[in-house]
Amino acid sequence: MATLTASVYTSHVPAIGAALDLGKTTEPYWQPLFAGYQPSKAWMAANTPDVIFLVYNDHATAFSLDLVPTFAIGTGAQFAVADEGWGPRPVPKVMGHPELASHIAQSVIQQDFDLTVVNQMPVDHGLTVPLSLMCGQPAAWPCPVIPFAVNVVQYPIPSGMRCFRLGQAIRRAIESFDAPLKVQIWGTGGMSHQLQGPRAGLINKDFDNAFLDQLIAAPEELAKKPHIDYVRDAGSEGIELVMWLIARGAMADCADVPGPQPVVRRRFYHVPASNTAVGHLILEQPALA
Ligand code: DHB
Ligand code: FE
Repeated sequence: MATLTASVYTSHVPAIGAALDLGKTTEPYWQPLFAGYQPSKAWMAANTPDVIFLVYNDHATAFSLDLVPTFAIGTGAQFAVADEGWGPRPVPKVMGHPELASHIAQSVIQQDFDLTVVNQMPVDHGLTVPLSLMCGQPAAWPCPVIPFAVNVVQYPIPSGMRCFRLGQAIRRAIESFDAPLKVQIWGTGGMSHQLQGPRAGLINKDFDNAFLDQLIAAPEELAKKPHIDYVRDAGSEGIELVMWLIARGAMADCADVPGPQPVVRRRFYHVPASNTAVGHLILEQPALA
């Protein structure tokens, strides 16, 4: 059976992708940020999974306001890198895993989460920047990726608890796939930021660090946090953080029969990076007995 080996959490600031693509990673502004991801890249190289289930949000790139799926699973064999206005990022195309993705769609929909099945979509910075941060600039991404897009752009968006419960359902789906695949689940976006209006530029370090603490130690309690708290305390785009609860809900200690707590392999927090506080965690699953 497939196993869930780790969850990874990271911001997806598009300027980070531009800094990498334009060779600016050693500039004083960017150097501390990329230095902070060095140990994570080493961990990733040593712990490359067979598949990454990558929870992210589309920024009106694949889905405009014409069509807003709440939860969309990418079941295609490959996904093109989106042109977000400056041409596609010079990164590898994303290879999917249609067999596992179709199984997860089947299992999760049977568990009463109504996913939108997407065979073709371009993927934007929400997906490619986390891959770049964790994998660097390879000629091909190290493994297939199942894109899982969550609507956090156009209200009504899913609650933290809905996301947490969905993570639990995704765990059941992965663990019932009949092949010995090692799967990581990533939760991306956040942390505090607001890109528009009078509060543009808002950063809240206290909120972000309390969120990281609680995500590690008390995720189900954190899942009760209402949208208004994110928007008030972490800015209008800080709501992207609800996606982290999907990845956290998939860990063994959140399962029907709770397993061991995850081990914190990496925790990093950095300001500034464009308009967003960058947060990052790696939670590894101890091998189940
Ligand atoms: C920024 C952050 C985001 O999450 C995003 O989607 C776009 C821009 C920023 O900080 O610039
Ligand atoms: Fe974003």
